[in-house]
Amino acid sequence: MLLDFTTLDARQAYYWMGSTITPRPVAWVSSCSADGVANLAPFSFFQMVTASPPTLMISPLLQADKSLKDTARNIQETGEFVVNLVPFALVEMMNQTSMSLEPSLSEIEQFNVPTLPSERVKPRRVAGVPVSFECRLAKFMPYPEHQPSCVMILGEVLAAHIDERIVAEDGTVDPARLDTVSRMGADWYGRTQSEANFKLTRPTGWDRRRKTRD
Ligand SMILES: Cc1cc2nc3c(=O)[nH]c(=O)nc-3n(C[C@H](O)[C@H](O)[C@H](O)COP(=O)(O)O)c2cc1C
Repeated sequence: MLLDFTTLDARQAYYWMGSTITPRPVAWVSSCSADGVANLAPFSFFQMVTASPPTLMISPLLQADKSLKDTARNIQETGEFVVNLVPFALVEMMNQTSMSLEPSLSEIEQFNVPTLPSERVKPRRVAGVPVSFECRLAKFMPYPEHQPSCVMILGEVLAAHIDERIVAEDGTVDPARLDTVSRMGADWYGRTQSEANFKLTRPTGWDRRRKTRD
């Protein structure tokens, strides 16, 4: 079957891309409005961009009326956010926080999400997660420029909180101990704690210019 993406509507394109570009990690993003309302929401349009400077990307879609979601507006206003990774133990709570609440209400208070203070930014981080990245806004890019459907937000990682229990005896992060969830298609989710995990060693190439692994 060939899908002609130049004729698909956005809903169909979302379905086919979202159901096949998987698994996608979930960024559970805490942010704060300019007047101090704490916000928390999950985003699976999320990736690492580069390590120099350490940068990640999330992409909140615009709402039907083309306005910004609370997360995007808060980040634009304050320039700060925290990306928490979601352990299987907190997946139900993460799902609850995807509910759209009016901007004056906090998902953290509404769903009793346990939090801890951050070190470098104002938004608090979620307690009980294996990793939280404290980020400063690096770029806020509505895309596409002429008729945006989303905002690509790049954040520079200033600090990370790592739960030492995810580190194995040999000092490496053990995916099974990390046990984060990822978004698959429709209502499906994946876990890093899976018998499907396996190891593969990279071949050594000719290109000595590369200083870091990708
Ligand atoms: C697992 C999961 C992943 C999601 N990923 C995204 C995403 O990448 N982009 C997006 O715009 N919405 C995504 N959503 C929906 C938002 O979480 C939802 O719109 C939320 O209400 C936004 O909150 P806010 O208005 O407080 O920012 C996702 C929802 C779930 C459950």
